[in-house]
Amino acid sequence: MLTDDWFDVYSRAERKAMMPRLDAYPVHPAKMDMGLARTIFEKGLEMRLWDHGNAIGNPMAGDGTEALIFRRGGCAIYAVEPVPLYAARFGIYQQRLQDATPFKLHTWQMHLGDAREPWPKTWPALDAVVFSPTYEAAVKAGDEGPYAKGLDHLRAGEGVPVAESLRTRITGYDEAPGQIGFLKGQDWKDAMKLVYQRSYEHTAEGGFMVTVTKNVRRNSTLVKIDAIVTEDAGAVGWQPYAHFRALGAARSLFARTNNQHYLDRGQPELVVNHEDILVFQKPSQL
Ligand SMILES: C[S@@+](CC[C@H](N)C(=O)[O-])C[C@H]1O[C@@H](n2cnc3c(N)ncnc32)[C@H](O)[C@@H]1O
Repeated sequence: MLTDDWFDVYSRAERKAMMPRLDAYPVHPAKMDMGLARTIFEKGLEMRLWDHGNAIGNPMAGDGTEALIFRRGGCAIYAVEPVPLYAARFGIYQQRLQDATPFKLHTWQMHLGDAREPWPKTWPALDAVVFSPTYEAAVKAGDEGPYAKGLDHLRAGEGVPVAESLRTRITGYDEAPGQIGFLKGQDWKDAMKLVYQRSYEHTAEGGFMVTVTKNVRRNSTLVKIDAIVTEDAGAVGWQPYAHFRALGAARSLFARTNNQHYLDRGQPELVVNHEDILVFQKPSQL
């Protein structure tokens, strides 16, 4: 299996340019970094995971970071998202992209629903599926670092000044029927397995599934989300193809403070400073 580390992929500036804040809509709580999404697209082109003109699935689409990048790169997008607010914002960003582009882009379709349920039958066989799952709630409880202390203060209403990112993490995902972001432990694993399965069914033979996750700490142990996803995706037929690490993922002050805390305690194994880009392939029958 191919492995590699990526450096300097994160870029806040790109997000500001392509996805400016929409005043009428609160911020999505877990957006992918735009520079990371672009790097995934470009590396995937180099590796021939996809090509311009391909049909790309985007279950768990959020408000569409990956979708913007892939559609700008000439792909058609087939997205699923259960939260109407995020789906609406997805549409606004797609329209803005088209307005800013001199040539006609390929189609985008948003299925407002649960990616565990069957996806629209009218969709073509997908060349690849790219997404970033929810997983915070599955593992959030019990982190003993200062980040968790900040959460406790806030829950107790002590009004500690906190960054917007922390606030939205507490608020979490918006409610919608089928919201997987609230599930924990085995329930989350079972739900995600169904999403891997749907992705598998909708992907052409030889096609790819790419997920982006970050390992997390729980009760001072590392929960290896990358290993969990690999095992559960494997159980429905996906074969591991590549594993990339995007280094420098601890960008917020809180994430960096937390990492420093574990370094100071002599526990470098608990430092989380990368995201995992997992690439799977649907085997060909031939
Ligand atoms: C990590 S976020 C993805 C954000 C996206 N990568 C972006 O940058 O806009 C995960 C998304 O999965 C959505 N989600 C939760 N349950 C889902 C389900 N059953 N089917 C499809 N999407 C779901 C959440 O509402 C959330 O928007």
